[in-house]
Amino acid sequence: MSVTVRVPAKVNVQLGVGGLRGDGYHDLANVFFAVALGDEVTASASAPGTGVTLTCSGPDAGQVPLDGTNLAARAARLLAAHHGIDADVHLHIAKDIPVAGGMAGGSADGAAALVACDALWALDTPLDTLLGLAADLGSDVPFALLGGVALGRGRGEILDPLPVGGTFHWVFAVADGGLSTPAVFHECDRLREESGTGSTEADVPTPDADPALLAALADGDPVALAAALANDLQPAALSLRPALAATLRAGTEAGAIGALVSGSGPTCAFLAKDAEAAEAVAGALRESGTCRTAHATRGPVPGAAVLAH
Ligand code: C5P
Repeated sequence: MSVTVRVPAKVNVQLGVGGLRGDGYHDLANVFFAVALGDEVTASASAPGTGVTLTCSGPDAGQVPLDGTNLAARAARLLAAHHGIDADVHLHIAKDIPVAGGMAGGSADGAAALVACDALWALDTPLDTLLGLAADLGSDVPFALLGGVALGRGRGEILDPLPVGGTFHWVFAVADGGLSTPAVFHECDRLREESGTGSTEADVPTPDADPALLAALADGDPVALAAALANDLQPAALSLRPALAATLRAGTEAGAIGALVSGSGPTCAFLAKDAEAAEAVAGALRESGTCRTAHATRGPVPGAAVLAH
């Protein structure tokens, strides 16, 4: 018996980063947006005493850790422990989301594993409980359960769904190699110290969602959303990976109406005015030599969900 769950990647249309907290995290105003680029996680029953085993397929499969640190494996063990049962399951990840790319691919697999194991083991865990377990796994995991568009507060795990008035068309330029999320947050702090503003909670005001951005989402207005895109981690990602400036430029020159680094990067995200323009931007980016590949896609899409057999 097996269950397959499809789960979306995210782009942050606004990522406001507050000061460094005492616990090593940053308070965020994080507007998550789920896109049709996604992974599929299949949970299959395995013999008692087998534990959690893991395989992965897809172009970046070689970069995915297949040991107990993988968020999908941790999710299966956490759900089993919560219910006091043994975690005997094989998880297969069919991976399309760039690895360490700033699109929450690992978090997505964690969310998908929660939903897949919940169905395989017929646990019927309430969504609120799953969201709590997801928050224990990582700051971006709860959003991958919800999907759509949501404002994340705290370290990103306190979610409020946001209204969206239409479909938006995106292009993602995938870089060679990933960036470490903690390293990018650390570089953000370092740049703030260097500029003299300071980097602690006392120095940096708590960020808030931008009303113009929320209105653009509610109106389904790509031009207004393009103008409001904002990522406080972008200077840090560019500082660690200066070549991303050329990627952003190439997408803009190819007709994208908005461009930003996705989350902590190095994937770059471009907003296009329609599906046809998105395909043209993706094609131009693939030709540009400034990225490994580029995908045209759309959103918002729902969060982790069981696929019909
Ligand atoms: O929550 P998660 O394990 O995904 O976070 C990974 C790392 O990213 C944290 O250890 C921290 O360095 C950084 N982070 C942060 N502030 C957040 C979320 C993540 O500093 N709100």
